[in-house]
Amino acid sequence: MSSLPAQGVIPPGVVTLADHEAHARTRLDDKAWAYFSGGAADEITLRANRSAWDQRLLYPRVLQTIAGGHTRLELLGRTLAHPILLAPVAFQRLAHPDGELASAYAAAAQGAGLVLSTQASMPLETVAKAFLGEAQRGPLWFQLYLQHDRGFTRELVQRAENAGYEALVLTVDAPTSGARDRERRAGFCLPPHISAVNLEGLQPPSPTRLTPGQSALFDGLLASAPTWDDVAWLQSITRLPILLKGVLHPADARQAAALQLAGIMVSNHGGRTLDTTPATASALPGIVQAVAGDLPVLVDGGIRRGTDILKAMALGASAVLVGRPYVYGLANAGALGVAHVLRLLRDELEIAMALCGCRTLAQATPELLFKTD
Ligand code: FNR
Ligand code: LAC
Repeated sequence: MSSLPAQGVIPPGVVTLADHEAHARTRLDDKAWAYFSGGAADEITLRANRSAWDQRLLYPRVLQTIAGGHTRLELLGRTLAHPILLAPVAFQRLAHPDGELASAYAAAAQGAGLVLSTQASMPLETVAKAFLGEAQRGPLWFQLYLQHDRGFTRELVQRAENAGYEALVLTVDAPTSGARDRERRAGFCLPPHISAVNLEGLQPPSPTRLTPGQSALFDGLLASAPTWDDVAWLQSITRLPILLKGVLHPADARQAAALQLAGIMVSNHGGRTLDTTPATASALPGIVQAVAGDLPVLVDGGIRRGTDILKAMALGASAVLVGRPYVYGLANAGALGVAHVLRLLRDELEIAMALCGCRTLAQATPELLFKTD
């Protein structure tokens, strides 16, 4: 008999996302833990993502009319119950055998948006079917990594369109993976039964014969790394709106707006790609200012509390994504664990709004943040 709690039961005492994280550490082996929880290099950005939210202080108003308040919002032409989406996280069957399917059921039941990773460990069609059946569901988006084989990429996009995905989230901050020192120390590799099933059939790039002085990275692996021209190409082959994920620099945000993309996700990949970038809470205001309302700006990285979400909205975000926390919920209790994480965040957001005197998210403006300087 295992002493672990039965699948599908929230362990006693787990009442915050941090509790989920601590409990997940006991459920995941060292390799999976290194993969999910780790960041790049010295993990300076990973830590900064968290501390940047903590350092922002709320400046509440009292005696405001809050009766009848709600967390609803409009995003890409839809009304959502609340501003929380599940960020794309690869290989979720490493956390729980039900993998992405469990996350999809939980997100749909909680009215959260779902962004499925290109590197999901379950077929994108299966996940879409589970999600689209729920009447109260949030948006269903597909996260795309442009593959070196553009023909394969085009077919992948068509599969996503046919399966009912409503937008593409093009991730642009990881043309190569970061220095994943924690993973390497732990000797992480995928077990044989888990793979990026939606990339099956993709042939590896033909090996380039490097001439002396050429770089294995720039002239080999990254010979077909995507550029802005590929974003325009993607627009030409799909009818779906495209959001750009992994933007930190205002100049890139302006370029995304100029291309009439549907949205921007301010993200540093949860500190997993380039270390020592700004925290997303620090980068967000510059991006919001640069695009001046031309397109929605979403943010992820280190969001662990309802107060973090309210701060993001006050800084001008249209919605937020969470990554690791729901994977920890998944590891702890399958679909129920993911639903619990989402419920906690929603409840905390409502409490934070009420205590700040906000009836609606539109009332979360920069004045809600205490100016420390
Ligand atoms: C990710 N992320 C990610 N992003 C993406 O665009 N495609 C992907 O396949 C993945 N895979 C992935 C795996 C794991 C284990 C993690 C932790 C993250 C990044 C993710 O979408 C998101 O940007 C961050 O996770 C947000 O930060 P927090 O909430 O984890 O702090
Ligand atoms: C990661 C890749 C899959 O962050 O995006 O692990």
